[in-house]
Amino acid sequence: MLNIVIFGPPGSGKGTQSARIVKKYDLTHLSTGDMLREEMEKNTPLGKQVSEYIDKGLLVPDDIVLKMLYDYAAGHMDSPGFIFDGFPRTIVQAEALDNLLDKRGIPINVVLSVEVEEKELLKRIVGRGEDSGRTDDSMEIANQRLDVYKKQTMPLIDYYKEQGKIAPINGMQPVDEVFGDICQAIEAVKAVQ
Ligand code: AP5
Repeated sequence: MLNIVIFGPPGSGKGTQSARIVKKYDLTHLSTGDMLREEMEKNTPLGKQVSEYIDKGLLVPDDIVLKMLYDYAAGHMDSPGFIFDGFPRTIVQAEALDNLLDKRGIPINVVLSVEVEEKELLKRIVGRGEDSGRTDDSMEIANQRLDVYKKQTMPLIDYYKEQGKIAPINGMQPVDEVFGDICQAIEAVKAVQ
């Protein structure tokens, strides 16, 4: 079992790299952002509720996200491992994930912390916004998402550093090179499993 968290600010390339990791290592991709957007696209009651937060660049409340995690994990426990993308985003979420995985004796192996400069993040998000259809890809909301990241999500770096799980990844490189560094970090944890 291989459990990986891919961590980083909005636009750092978590989704791009997750797709590659899933393909190479045959993991289950759990992206809370994708799950929430799917609800919004289907216009479900949950989708309507969470759009109130996503459209403003705010985090969806922990209880909603954790229910999604538990439901999804329960249906995929036979997976050879997970890549958690965009989750956890708060200390409450990180503790809940640790509890869930520790109970099953399958802890997180590594947290890939993708580092990208702020100017580049805004360029990528606003560039994608030209055709993504994402309501949160404007300059104003991207700035708000970055603020939220700094206040609510960055503390997780220390949380996982204390567990000795952080692998810093230079996300300023071209996609293939970022992936090469990610594979090296994954191989290093696999070697000591
Ligand atoms: P979420 O969907 O998780 O979005 P995010 O974290 O803001 O990240 P992005 O999807 O913008 O970027 P990414 O890091 O995946 O980069 P990507 O590969 O797409 O969350 C959205 C919202 O949902 C949140 O704001 C919140 O409201 C809610 N939410 C989600 N999870 C939650 C949770 N756990 N708790 C509470 N609320 C939650 O790449 C970005 C762009 O850059 C693309 O165009 C890509 O082609 C390009 N790119 C990628 N890599 C490179 C590279 N190396 N060089 C050049 N360009 C690159």
